[in-house]
Amino acid sequence: MAERIIIDTDPGHDDAFAILLALAAPDLEVLGLTTVAGNVPVATTTANARRVVELAGRPRVPVFAGADRPLLRAPMHAHDIHGKMGIDGYDWPEPARPAEPEHAVDWMVRTLAASAERSVTLVVLGPETNVAMLLRRAPELGTRIRRIVVMGGGFFEGGNYAPAAEFNILVDPEAAAIVFGSGIELVAMPIDCTNRTLTPASWIPDLKALGTRVGDACAGMQGFFQVAGNRKYGTTTRPLHDALAMAWLLWPELFRGRLCNVEIETRSELTRGATVVDWWHRTDRPRNCLWIRDCTDPAELYRRMLARLATL
Ligand code: BDR
Ligand code: CA
Repeated sequence: MAERIIIDTDPGHDDAFAILLALAAPDLEVLGLTTVAGNVPVATTTANARRVVELAGRPRVPVFAGADRPLLRAPMHAHDIHGKMGIDGYDWPEPARPAEPEHAVDWMVRTLAASAERSVTLVVLGPETNVAMLLRRAPELGTRIRRIVVMGGGFFEGGNYAPAAEFNILVDPEAAAIVFGSGIELVAMPIDCTNRTLTPASWIPDLKALGTRVGDACAGMQGFFQVAGNRKYGTTTRPLHDALAMAWLLWPELFRGRLCNVEIETRSELTRGATVVDWWHRTDRPRNCLWIRDCTDPAELYRRMLARLATL
């Protein structure tokens, strides 16, 4: 039976790839997309989420706008990597349909309330504000969640938006602390793994060679997305962070990780948003998170991703 998922997202080039991969996967049933302020403001992430489901030929997948700012802090965006609209690099049309009128958190509450125990997976690809609000508002619905898969954090790799913090956690560390402290089964795809799982050199031509609108849009997005990243990291290609979180759901056998304690630093000005990973089990703190350390075969992973994108 297909795994029922909700994608909480801030598209974002790599979010767009993750959404497309999920929509192309027969083993996943996408119940809906919820959007959050992150890479760009929430009005734009919402329009982008609509653009992506429409590009995939799945206009009926509902999109719900969520939090327009972190729980306690001022919004922070990543225009330097993701451009003005967040998915720059392709000539995107305006979305044909509007987002749903209901707030993302209201919809998640309603959906979980109507679902069986442990029957819905949350795939969280941006700051974790919406999920934290959900868990605060209706903690009793936590048992309906099968697992939460987040793209976020970095420990061995350090940070990407601050010396000690990865973007999604840095933007809303209090929300991340709520999610990581929830006791719900949790998987983290951090930059420890993603930064070493680069797209192949042939990725853009491979996407173009699909000869589809999806292939053209993906090639254009990748072209834009990797410019700033390559400059920063001295690479020639870039990883699709969020798509790797989705890929873990589809092909866990391509990844290695360890169940350990992960806590979020919220107080220090110096290391705010750091993910503190007890990789060597030095404490008795609960082993709350499967922390993914690496991908064993990046070439195979991107081959499979391409094959799935080819079906759209
Ligand atoms: C994460 O931050 C965002 O810029 C990306 O979409 C991804 O979710 C990577 O640090
Ligand atoms: Ca994202």
